[in-house]
Amino acid sequence: MEKKYASMKSIASYVPKNCVANEDFEKIIDTSDEWITKRTGIKTRYFADNNEASSELGVKAANLAISRAGMKPDDIDLVICATLSPDYLGMPSNACLISSRLGIENKPAFDITAACSGFIYLLSLAKSFIESNTYNNILIVGTEKISSILDFSDRSTCVLFGDGAGAAVISATNNENERIIDVNISANGKYNDFLMTPRCLGSNLNFSNEFYVSQIDATQNYIKMRGNETFKIAVKTLANDVKEILIRNNINIDDVTYFIPHQANLRIINAVGDIIGIDASKVVVTVNKYGNTSAASIPMAIDDICKEGRLKKGDLLLLDAFGGGLTWGSSLLYFNGE
Ligand code: COA
Repeated sequence: MEKKYASMKSIASYVPKNCVANEDFEKIIDTSDEWITKRTGIKTRYFADNNEASSELGVKAANLAISRAGMKPDDIDLVICATLSPDYLGMPSNACLISSRLGIENKPAFDITAACSGFIYLLSLAKSFIESNTYNNILIVGTEKISSILDFSDRSTCVLFGDGAGAAVISATNNENERIIDVNISANGKYNDFLMTPRCLGSNLNFSNEFYVSQIDATQNYIKMRGNETFKIAVKTLANDVKEILIRNNINIDDVTYFIPHQANLRIINAVGDIIGIDASKVVVTVNKYGNTSAASIPMAIDDICKEGRLKKGDLLLLDAFGGGLTWGSSLLYFNGE
């Protein structure tokens, strides 16, 4: 039997309407456009409307990804969604909500939690499901409404994040020049308190539902980050991870068409880019426009160069991501979309 590979058949994204500039934060917290730009590279980010759910952002990107793959929702065998800002705690999953809105029925659907590394984890799962002959067409979605869990009085986190969604169809192919070459994922829960989202009733605080709703310290309801420590560990881990995946696959950095890292901070992106020795013109940067959109950031960045007409079928992409957990990962793939 011919060998079966997984390939990225399409990419799509959705950016919500409301553009928020650094100057808008100057009106509500002690910060400046100069500080945010210098320390992070971020100039703007987009926030969803209050009544626009994270699953709905995902549906918009997913719809486009399916049509760009030349498929119908019915052709999809599995839907997996990565998010740290789902519509509901635990259930129903965003993947089930997205499937339902797309008209996909009686097909498996589930969410994963890997924070900003979510899209790389999705690639790893999709590749395994396809290469083990379990499914042929998998819809993967990274979608985030992080604005809903931001503490707008905490200047060290609220300026960093944005909302958005990205999706891809991962399909089976026999052509090795169309394949996802490799995906490497990892985690170290020892650093679980570096980045955290609101606690749920399943935590060890054992508060009653009533207590949870009425008494809990309001600051527990928002994203928290030990930024400086995260920054240092991110650069070191990502640089090692990327070097390792290149060596393992015997690929020279000069053969990579685009390096598309998770978009958390321009200084992290540049530091890793310098260490791995990639030409700056090949590094894709969107953090200036969208801020950190967590699981959506990599597919949004891939779609950006696609919309600009810079991405071609056969281009060799190097992806990397780092996020809460702590989690991280990287991937090498030949883009197989039109
Ligand atoms: N405006 C102005 N000043 C700010 C600020 C803001 N928005 N946010 C923080 N500061 C201040 C701090 O209060 C601190 O002031 P102090 O020295 O008086 O205490 C000072 O800036 C330095 O803070 P520090 O946290 O050391 O800055 P930093 O250079 O590490 O930059 C981050 C902060 C968050 C931008 C940076 O640490 C970062 O990007 N971290 C990693 C993010 C990331 O990768 N996340 C993981 C993947 S999602």
